[in-house]
Amino acid sequence: MRRLFPVTDMTAHETDAGADREWSLDELADAYAYPELSGGEGAWLRANMVSSLDGAGQHDGRSQPLSSETDMRIFGTLRALADVVVVGAETVRLEGYRPARAREAFAARRAAAGQGPAPVIAVVSASLDLDFSLPLFTEPLVPTLILTGAAAPAERVRDAREAGAEVLAAGDGAGVEPVRAKAVLAERGLRRQLTEGGPRLLGQFVAAEVLDELCLTVSPTMTAGGAQRIAGGPPVAVPTRFAVASLLEQDGFLFTRYGRI
Ligand SMILES: NC(=O)c1ccc[n+]([C@@H]2O[C@H](COP(=O)([O-])OP(=O)(O)OC[C@H]3O[C@@H](n4cnc5c(N)ncnc54)[C@H](OP(=O)(O)O)[C@@H]3O)[C@@H](O)[C@H]2O)c1
Repeated sequence: MRRLFPVTDMTAHETDAGADREWSLDELADAYAYPELSGGEGAWLRANMVSSLDGAGQHDGRSQPLSSETDMRIFGTLRALADVVVVGAETVRLEGYRPARAREAFAARRAAAGQGPAPVIAVVSASLDLDFSLPLFTEPLVPTLILTGAAAPAERVRDAREAGAEVLAAGDGAGVEPVRAKAVLAERGLRRQLTEGGPRLLGQFVAAEVLDELCLTVSPTMTAGGAQRIAGGPPVAVPTRFAVASLLEQDGFLFTRYGRI
């Protein structure tokens, strides 16, 4: 992997980030470290998404055909840095989400940051139409959260709790309000937030201006067809501006990182 931006040393020698070589998980974790969140308040919401060259966020209902081994390493690294992974219910249903693993490579870093062994998974759902017999709900290292609205179906809330999940209201109606979701998680000390989509959920985070950073993998593929882009839903009135923070490359895949201006 090579670092293309920021350019730190034009005469990069073999061990420099600019040279093409495999990066260790530690180096990846350093490259993607969350910013310091001061004062015990606030939260940083980062999204990690992959897109084809022609803008598809999935192929045959999954993002895996657009991904690569290095993309999955970065995916794992971003999870390992996060307190919580926020994900839409449809992605959980279609991608067969499993609980986050504790990984030895990140254990010391997580302990030093005051984090548990693995990030909490927080599923966003209004219907709670989820299979609560799945390991995501019955076998996580840390209980899976479900973010929903105050008007969520009571029976499904009970089923979720019986399965071991914790149900949190982050909205007054049936749905979750993005600003509330970020705040509810932060109040629980889950301040290093990562969302893995999907597009319908990410679109709402963008529209509500709660997304701080986008880690976008540009996959050197084209899919044609009518696949969703990485963010959907109603458009924002004025396009939200982001600035590039870093750009890595491996095998034609671009691993971009953009911060909201
Ligand atoms: N390219 C990528 O990086 C990437 C990443 C993730 C997923 N994907 C792909 O995206 C597809 C799925 O994404 P999607 O956009 O269809 O769905 P999604 O955003 O994963 O999930 C949508 C569901 O989330 C719940 N939800 C969303 N907003 C909510 C709110 N404000 N309040 C309460 N619940 C809310 C609803 O669940 P209920 O129906 O349960 O109420 C809704 O049906 C899959 O094909 C997946 O492979 C791609």
